[in-house]
Order: sequence, then C-alpha cells, then structure tokens
Amino acid sequence: MSQHGRKYSDEYQRSLADREGFWLDAARSVDWSVEPARAYSDADAPISRWFPDGELNTAYNALDRHVAAGRGGQPALIHDSAMLGRTTTYTYAQLTERVARFAGVLRAQGVGKGDRVVIYLPMIPEAAVAMLATARLGAVHSVVFGGFAANELAARIKDAAPKVVVTTSGGLEPNRRVEYLPTVHEALATAGVPHLPVIVKHRDGFATDPGTLAWTFVDWDGALAGAEPAAPVPVKATDPLYILYTSGTTGTPKGVVRDNGGHAVALLWSMANLYDIHAGDVWWTASDVGWVVGHSYIVYGPLLAGATTVMYEGKPVGTPDAGAFWRVIADHGVKALFTAPTALRAIRKMDPEAGLLAKYDVGHLQTLFTAGERLDTDTFHWASRVLGIPVVDHWWQTETGWGIVGNPRGLEPLPIKAGSPTLPMPGYELQIVDGMGVPVPAGEEGNIVLRLPLPPGTLTTLWGDDQRFVDSYLNAFAGCYATGDSGYVDEDGYVFVMGRTDDVINVAGHRLSTGAIEQVLGKHPAVAECAVIGVADSLKGQRAVGYVVLKSGVTIDADVLQAELVALVRKEIGPVADFKNSTVVEALPKTRSGKILRKTMRQIADGEAYTVPSTIEDPSVIDYLLPVLRPR
Ligand code: COA
Ligand code: AMP
Repeated sequence: MSQHGRKYSDEYQRSLADREGFWLDAARSVDWSVEPARAYSDADAPISRWFPDGELNTAYNALDRHVAAGRGGQPALIHDSAMLGRTTTYTYAQLTERVARFAGVLRAQGVGKGDRVVIYLPMIPEAAVAMLATARLGAVHSVVFGGFAANELAARIKDAAPKVVVTTSGGLEPNRRVEYLPTVHEALATAGVPHLPVIVKHRDGFATDPGTLAWTFVDWDGALAGAEPAAPVPVKATDPLYILYTSGTTGTPKGVVRDNGGHAVALLWSMANLYDIHAGDVWWTASDVGWVVGHSYIVYGPLLAGATTVMYEGKPVGTPDAGAFWRVIADHGVKALFTAPTALRAIRKMDPEAGLLAKYDVGHLQTLFTAGERLDTDTFHWASRVLGIPVVDHWWQTETGWGIVGNPRGLEPLPIKAGSPTLPMPGYELQIVDGMGVPVPAGEEGNIVLRLPLPPGTLTTLWGDDQRFVDSYLNAFAGCYATGDSGYVDEDGYVFVMGRTDDVINVAGHRLSTGAIEQVLGKHPAVAECAVIGVADSLKGQRAVGYVVLKSGVTIDADVLQAELVALVRKEIGPVADFKNSTVVEALPKTRSGKILRKTMRQIADGEAYTVPSTIEDPSVIDYLLPVLRPR
C-alpha cells in the first residue's frame, strides 16, 4: 500500500468498473476552460472521445498555470548539451514568455486552430518551444525525428499538409554535422510544396543562408524579436494536439493522432502515480523529441506536472565518455531518469563496472525507468547492482502515448520481477489471446490485446484515415485493440512482453518497418526481390539485415552491392535505419501464395527453434538458407 493509503489493485479495478468516476477524478488535475461533465463518449465508436464536453489549452496547462501559481522562477527546462559543453536553463516564466512569442510568430505565418505545423529539429530548446507554441494556438504539430532523410520528411509533409515547417540550420552528432537545410529543401520539392514557409533557427557553425533557392525563408530569431505574444486558444478536449508518424508493416508511416484533453489527464496521472514526479521535482528523459517518449516525457508530462525537465543533447557514450549520464544526473539533481535499455547496454559495454559513477554524486536519483524495448534481465541486474536503486521497466507504444503496463511507483510500488514491466495501468484491460481471439491460460504466450475502449491519452485515429485505424488495430480481434506485441501473463498477473508479431523491428529503441527498408532495397537495379529481418544484436536489441535475390543475368560484387544498398537506405530513410548488412541469396522461402517467411528466417538467424509453415512452396529453400542465416 502506498504512503497515501491507496492501493494499485483498488485503483485499477475502479478504472474499469467506474470509468466515469475514475477519469473525472483524474481530470481535476487539469485547468479546464470548460470543465467536462462526462469522461467518455462512444458516440463515434470505434473512435473514442474522452472528456467530450471539456475545453482546455494544453500549453496553458504546461506553462502559464504554473506561473500563475507562483512558480514562475522555478526551472522548467534545463537544456544540457554535451555536444557543446553548455547548459541553458529556462524558468517557467521565461519559457512561457518565449512560447507565447513564438506562437505569435506562427500566427503571423497564418497558423490558427487546427492547422498543422511540421517541426524538424534536433534536441535543442526550440523544439519544445515550437511544440508548445503550436499547442498554444490550438494548432497541431507533427515532429519529425532528425535522423530521417528527405523522403521520410516529405511523406510526413504531404500527409499532414502543414501551413509552415520549423527547422534549424544544423544538428550535431558525435562524428558528424547534420545539415538540415538541404534536406528540408529537397523534402519540400518532393512533397510538391517548394514555397511553404520555413522558419529556421540559426545554429552557430552552420550556414543559414537561403541562397538562391526559391523558398520562403523566415529567420527564427528575427521573427521572434518582433513578435507579439499570442494568448492560449481553448480547444475541445477531443481536438487533435499532435500527429506523430510511426512505422507500420508497410512503407507508409501511420500518423498517430493524439487529442488534447485525454492526453493531459493521462500524462498527469502517469507523472504522479507511475513515476512519482511532482511539481518542483527534476526529471530527465534521455530520448529525442522526435519519438513518442520525447513528446510525452521530455515535453508535455513533466511540464504539465510543474516539474523541471532535462533535455539532453548528447549520447550515453562518447560525449565524452560512459559517465555522461551520471554527470547529467549529478549536475541537475535528477530524481528519476527514463531511458532505453540500449543506452544502458552502451554504457555497460564501455564501462562494465560503471567505474565512472564514482566521479559523480548521483544521490538524488531514486528510480531508473526504461522503455522502448524489452529490458533484458542481464541489463536489469547490472543496472540494479551498479546504481542500487529500483530499475523499473514499463511497456508502451507510440499509439498509446503512455504506459500500458508499468509499476506505479507513486501509487503503490509493486515488487519488481526481472523481465516483466509489471501490471496493467488503469483503463487498460489486457488479455492474451490466441490467433482466434480466445484467451489463453496463464503462462501461455499469445497476442497481447486491449479491450476497448482504450483509456484517455491513447490514439484517437490515424491522421485522415479512420479506416486504416480500424483496419490496422481493431479488426483482428473483435472488441479489442491489437497491440502487435506477443507475450504472456504469469500466475501473479505480471505481464511479460516478448516481441512483435508483425514486421516492425526495434533498433536501439527506434521503431522501424522492415517493409519500408525492403521497398528501398527493391529500388536497386540489381535486386529482383528481397527480405529484411531484424536479427538479435547485443547492443541495439535488433539490427536490420537484408537478404537479396539478384535479377537473372546480373553479376555484382556482394561488397559493392552492400555498400550501394547501405547508401540507398541512408538516403531514402535516413541514418536512423542503421542498415549495415546485406547478403545475396539464390532464393527466399515463401508460402504458396507468395508470402515471404520472414519469421522463420529470423528464428533461424537468431538460433531459435524454428517453425516452417506447411504452406511453404519449396521446403528445399530452407535447407539451402540454413548455413547462410545461422549465426556464425
Ligand atoms: N539526427 C541525425 N542523425 C541521427 C540522429 C539525429 N537526431 N540520431 C541518430 N542519428 C544517426 C547517428 O548519427 C548514426 O549515424 P551513423 O550511422 O552515421 O553513425 C545513426 O543515426 C544510428 O544512430 P544510433 O542508433 O543512435 O546509433 P549510434 O551507434 O550512434 O549510438 C546508442 C548507439 C546506443 C548510443 C544510441 O542508439 C542510443 O543512445 N540509444 C538510445 C535510444 C533511445 O533513446 N531511444 C528512444 C526511444 S526511448
Ligand atoms: P514505439 O512505438 O517506438 O514506442 O515502439 C513500441 C514497441 O516497442 C512496442 O510495440 C514493443 O514492441 C516495443 N517496446 C516498447 N517498450 C517495451 C518494453 N518495455 N518491453 C518490451 N517491448 C517494448
């Protein structure tokens, strides 16, 4: 039982038995311009509407209300750049003022309620400012991760049809400078909107010169200096706050839509109850604003809660060493850190006994949270041992926006079991079902599904495509949302998430579509067909490997082909795909209907027991591929 006398099991049961009461209570943590009288409406089912009669402004809740409550002098955002060796702090008053003025800049570009703003920025404070300024106007942002190439940016611009793009002249990677402007220019041309206004934050050391290119170029600093602050615009709780594109099984990314009201309520619930973070606490999420983790827990969650959020521009290793995380925790007095297991594995690889910890005082750190990929038990035990604090895995997805399964540290810390993210969070009615949708007994692996409706804060639809939303998530199992993950529940109800059931892979906590990489490989003139699978990688969890069949009569050196394919994926998808390996094969295993047996290939490559479906067209292909795929 928690220090406040509340029990997880009571709260969880109430969230399902008394949905209205539970979430209306939770909604009291938000400042509404119109208080909701109802929590949930199924009038548009299967699309969920949370707080259908409520109105609010999310940026007001994240900023102004804390200033009004007397916390204007408290740090809101600490930007720690390991790349530049510089830290900049914005108080709530300063961040509110800056966001209000940048909202004025956006308004001057014609952005109003419901309009879209595409944000393509690295981990600099302007990313948070641009997101919050968009929200302040009741507009809808779509942030694109900086590691995506022009084509991916173009696809998102095309789909979201923004009024303006916000970017910078440059990003900093450890061994590379990332020139943003040529990428943006190419993306606008590809998307067929070459004259779309582009607001550019100049970064020292990068050219911010529109040059002779024919585009509408707005200088961030100049525009901000002359801007009139804009007041927060109330929107309906059900209006969209943002679109975030994520990988599906096809090459076309899915535009996950998040609403305003449900999002604010769910994030506030999670900050207090899941993470035990409250106003005045210092919280650090080491991710990127381009991912959902960055949206929810670098920007919105901690600011809605009135906490101080640390935004880190750097890596766990190499900037300058494997003590970087401990340095940030010590410098800013971080109470809880949220990162991906990959980052911990990278630190461990460089500093196996975490010797660098001794250089820093990390005494403020109470909890380490991980998500983005499964926290393998080895890394769990290592991190628990070297830090001596609870290491807490939790499981969620871009679609849900906050934890599906977690350990509610602020409500009632539950015993931690290695390998499990613990128990379902309120509102998530989780079941493990077989292929026919029939629940399986405890201990048996199956598809993880969530009974509808999903709780507040989860996706409401896919941008401009309700049908794809239904087809992608709701059709497979009647009355349920299909998570795309498989796993099991043990006799204590603990959930174990084992991996994806579709062609989505997870590389260094980054979600990628093997289908998208296959589409790119297929463009190479020598390639007749190909399969991309995610094979186990000791550092990054998985890595993408391509198996290609050459067109008949084509001869090409395998190394030359690999180099060309690597360059092609980097150009078309971006460095984030981290595609480095391809192998030429004579044939791929397929079913009689032509479906490539990627799962069987992956099982063989990972040295697991493999299953060959009876529908295989030519079983001899498996015999041929065994020595090619098997780990050496
Ligand atoms: N802009 C441009 N390029 C980027 C980028 C960005 N924002 N982020 C990554 N890249 C590039 C990297 O420079 C690298 O390019 P390279 O092939 O030229 O070296 C490539 O994308 C792959 O990056 P990454 O997967 O980060 O690998 P890495 O070898 O540079 O670093 C780790 C390895 C483990 C240190 C790193 O992956 C990491 O910190 N992971 C944590 C993951 C995380 O926070 N995930 C978010 C979900 S919670
Ligand atoms: P993303 O949408 O990028 O957050 O990726 C979501 C996917 O990452 C999930 O569907 C899982 O496959 C995987 N994932 C995220 N967190 C975890 C976790 N804690 N344990 C296991 N898998 C996870």
